[in-house]
Amino acid sequence: MRRIEIAPSILSADFGDMRGEVKRLERYGADRIHIDVMDGHFVPNLTFGPDLIRSIRGATDLPFETHLMIERPDLYVKRFADAGSDTLIVHYEAKHSVSRTLKAIGKLNKEAGIAVNPETPISSALGSMEYADMLLVMGVHPGFGGQKFMPSALDKIRRAKERGKSGVRIGIDGGINLNTGLKAINAGVDELIAGSAIFDSGDMRKSIKDFKKLCSTAKL
Ligand code: DX5
Ligand code: ZN
Repeated sequence: MRRIEIAPSILSADFGDMRGEVKRLERYGADRIHIDVMDGHFVPNLTFGPDLIRSIRGATDLPFETHLMIERPDLYVKRFADAGSDTLIVHYEAKHSVSRTLKAIGKLNKEAGIAVNPETPISSALGSMEYADMLLVMGVHPGFGGQKFMPSALDKIRRAKERGKSGVRIGIDGGINLNTGLKAINAGVDELIAGSAIFDSGDMRKSIKDFKKLCSTAKL
């Protein structure tokens, strides 16, 4: 049976209390923490670097999944690995040799993920999966939380499930709420990433509980 995980994105968390936020996420039942790194070049927004990861690493035992929305991930994967990331996700569209970066992540003994933007055909990414442990399908144009889910992502998930390397975890990121999350689960995802749906809900505990319920009761 497929186990579906919920990974809250701390892009929508209180940046002034990140340690408290990840502790709460763990207490309320999150499976992993999704950390969005943006460089102001690959996407038109800036967030945090390895030092933030290092400073919250001790606050939780949950795995850290670091989503690198940066132009040259190849130059930074080691620093993000050393800071305490368990998974490093790099973009297919960034300026690097995707296979070489994924291989380098594997050599650091970290899980390697490849992310695909809405305009990138899934077939392109599937051709670079040799060293990947995870595939992250974007449901929005990366850069900001709170955007509307693009349904074209569902077909990508289906195709990746059918034609992709077996054993690769498929995640969906951007625009996920209980409604779009269910569609993504039915399309075949293993992991839901959600930012605003959890942090802006007014009741984080209930929101995570609802997502967990969705993950466990969806028809698999
Ligand atoms: C978007 C980020 C997402 C973002 C999702 O660039 O990669 O992880 O936090 O936010 P929501 O869930 O609000 O769409
Ligand atoms: Zn993300």
